[in-house]
Amino acid sequence: MKTKIVVLTGAGVSAESGLKTFRDSDGLWEGYNVYDVATPEAWERNPSMVQDFYNMRRKDVLGAEPNPAHYALRLLEDKFDVTVITQNIDNLHERAGSSNIIHLHGIITKSQSDINPKLVYDIAGWELNMGETCELGSQLRPHVVWFGESVPMIEKAAAIASKSDIFIVIGTSLAVYPAAGLINFVPYSSQKIIVDPNSPAVNANNLRVINGRAGKAVPQLVNDLLRDFE
Ligand code: APR
Repeated sequence: MKTKIVVLTGAGVSAESGLKTFRDSDGLWEGYNVYDVATPEAWERNPSMVQDFYNMRRKDVLGAEPNPAHYALRLLEDKFDVTVITQNIDNLHERAGSSNIIHLHGIITKSQSDINPKLVYDIAGWELNMGETCELGSQLRPHVVWFGESVPMIEKAAAIASKSDIFIVIGTSLAVYPAAGLINFVPYSSQKIIVDPNSPAVNANNLRVINGRAGKAVPQLVNDLLRDFE
């Protein structure tokens, strides 16, 4: 049976594609108040502002390209059974060719019905506007998980993390739960690897921290893994 690698990614994996992280200096949450744009209350209060915020993010994503870290993760599939669990709402893992991707916080290229989150649609282009409705006639909103909302994919993600032989964490401050707790589901003896230039403090058995930027450190790590597991 193939070795199972599970990769948990955050905004840092897409930083070198030109997409801003959230909590670094000059990160998105420096310029915006989370509660104005990324909560159900914000959507109630000022839906146009929320749509505008995500329209800008969508425009950025469509204009960005995967970087060497995204492409290297795709190469892991040559030898390993790989699942990418991402907190990112961009589609750069898809565009780099990864096959198994779980979007914990949704994906910005899709919309969902305001009254039934299971009604999900592709968005053509970068704009989603007020007045665009689902098949039930209700307003469409971005298909993303906001602060205060449940994370429907977390149980599936935890089950997969619990099966990992190697668990790689790339570019996340691990500040947001439940995603940050996934590492606790990884078997005690499995190897854990963190790639981040400013790694969060993590207490885990069999942990290796690589203090580097994803665009350079991930291709190196992937090379090593492909070589060592002949
Ligand atoms: N390579 C690797 N890591 C990087 C790079 C890089 N080039 N640049 C920055 N980082 C790291 C930072 O050191 C930091 O640890 O990426 C991490 C980014 O952390 P956050 O901005 O907190 O992003 P993330 O952890 O993905 O946020 C989690 O919070 O706002 C919500 O829903 C949003 O999914 C997001 C969640």
